[in-house]
Amino acid sequence: MPDLTPEEIANDERAAWDEAWSGSLYEDAIAFITARSGQAEIAIELGGITPASRVLDVGCGPGILSESLAQMADSVEGIDFLETMIEQAKSRRSGASFQVADAEQLPVAAGDFDVAVCCYSSHHFVRPEKVYGELYRVLKPGGRVVVLHPIQAETATFGAIYQTLEEVLPAETVASFPSLAGPLFEVETPEPYLEMLSLCGFTDIVAEKRTKPCTLKNVEALISITARIGRVDAQSEEMRSALAEATAASSAQYRQDDGSYLFPDNIIVAKGVKP
Ligand SMILES: C[S@@+](CC[C@H](N)C(=O)[O-])C[C@H]1O[C@@H](n2cnc3c(N)ncnc32)[C@H](O)[C@@H]1O
Repeated sequence: MPDLTPEEIANDERAAWDEAWSGSLYEDAIAFITARSGQAEIAIELGGITPASRVLDVGCGPGILSESLAQMADSVEGIDFLETMIEQAKSRRSGASFQVADAEQLPVAAGDFDVAVCCYSSHHFVRPEKVYGELYRVLKPGGRVVVLHPIQAETATFGAIYQTLEEVLPAETVASFPSLAGPLFEVETPEPYLEMLSLCGFTDIVAEKRTKPCTLKNVEALISITARIGRVDAQSEEMRSALAEATAASSAQYRQDDGSYLFPDNIIVAKGVKP
């Protein structure tokens, strides 16, 4: 395989995202797991976000976290390199502002932000050291970078969803789902984040593993998310019963007495300060 230039790598990465997710599909299928299950509270706590804070949401997707943070901060700017994500984010009229940009090269002045948050985006960055170097540049002295990183092998929601899809879809279809993996994708311990943030100049670094539960209110919610992720027609009678059966098996251990599902997703949270 020929060596690719950084620009070619970035283009390939954007094209893979473009093919895999539009902003609205992402919001319907995944955002509940990545941005609506306690992430804003963690970002506020770790980032020390107050009504005076200027916040950058890095790889903001459809802008759900930005919307939550905008209720607390002075201002929130969401950036994402995918146009469909930014279109979806702008449509929420959330009080945050949004623009299409690559996190490796932000169209933002140095020292502009108090807090930069990477929520479920860091494991996709192709060159995370470039992104964290850039975040260092755009933070004020004393500014904080905050990372929420899902541990792939310990994210019970996605585990149950993909187990269901493996049962209802041909193996080659499941294998063809794009992985969109960056070098930090498989990280399972805090150490790589301690090293990465230190390498990029941050101090007072804290990185730790946390369990961050995700609740889905009933099996219907879970089936509809699974169907959207697998692009399968949950309206067809045959697919519906296959999904229902496989979902029951893959997620039985997380089912609560009231019919809801409580997934004990594990994440790494990290924070560093620009001196
Ligand atoms: C898993 S999604 C997370 C979205 C959102 N933060 C959330 O939690 O729902 C990852 C996002 O990062 C974006 N992304 C990945 N690499 C990027 C880069 N280098 N610059 C800007 N956005 C990037 C993708 O387009 C995608 O929207």
